Amino acid sequence: MRTTFKLLFMSLVLWSGLAKAKADPDPLQDYCVADPNGPQTLYLNGASCIDPQLAASSHFATSALSMPGNTSANSFGFSVILTSTRNLPGYHTQGVAMARVDIAPNALVPPHSHPRASEVTICIKGEILVGFVDTSNHQYTQTLRPGESFVFPKGLIHYLYNVSPTHPATSISGFNSQNPGAQLTSVAAFTSKPPLPDEVLEKAFKINGQDVVRIRRNLEG
Ligand SMILES: *[C@@H]1O[C@H](CO)[C@@H](O)[C@H](O)[C@H]1NC(C)=O
Repeated sequence: MRTTFKLLFMSLVLWSGLAKAKADPDPLQDYCVADPNGPQTLYLNGASCIDPQLAASSHFATSALSMPGNTSANSFGFSVILTSTRNLPGYHTQGVAMARVDIAPNALVPPHSHPRASEVTICIKGEILVGFVDTSNHQYTQTLRPGESFVFPKGLIHYLYNVSPTHPATSISGFNSQNPGAQLTSVAAFTSKPPLPDEVLEKAFKINGQDVVRIRRNLEG
C-alpha cells in the first residue's frame, strides 16, 4: 500500500515536471486560422479564429520570410522577420513559429533570451558565430556555415554574430512556441520604461553613474 502510494506520488511529480517542460498547449481543433478583424475589446490567450469553412490554402502559406529584412532599422545592424497571425494566420495555436534573421557585416544580434521557446537555427548564408550561456554560467559556442544548425535551449541567453567584415549573413530559426517573446539583455537592463534605478545598474555591473549615462545614451541612440 505504502509503495503504491510512493509510486503514485513519484509519477505525479514526474508528470508535473514534464507538463512544465511542454511548449504551447495543444489546439482543440485541426486549426484556428487567426481572424485579424476579430473584436479588439475581447482579450483571449491568442487571436480568435475565422469560421473553419472559410479556411483556404493561402492561410497556411506565407512569403514573409522570402526577402531580407532591413538591417539598418536598428543600431545593432540586424533584422528579424517573425511569423505572426497577420502574415501566417494558419499557424495560430500550432505551437510553432519561424524567423528569418539577417545580420549586416560584423553586426550582432545581441545577447537575448526567449522566455517561451527553445530555438533551433540554420545558417543559410555567411558565417555566424553563435553561443548561449547555461545556468551554470558555461558558454556553448560554434561558428555556423551555410547548412549548419545550432540549438538555443529555452530561456537561455544567446547571441548571433556575423564574423565577416564584408558579407551579410542569414539564418532561419524555428521555435516551439507561436509567441517565443524576446528580451535583449542590455536593452532590458538599461532602457526599460520606467528605468531601473542608477544605483541598481551601478552595483550590478560594477560601473559608475557616468557609465550608466553613457551606456543608456549609446543604446537609445
Ligand atoms: C532601412 O531603414 C533605414 C533606417 O530606418 C531607412 O533609412 C531606410 O530607408 C530603410 N531601407 C529600406 C530599403 O526600407
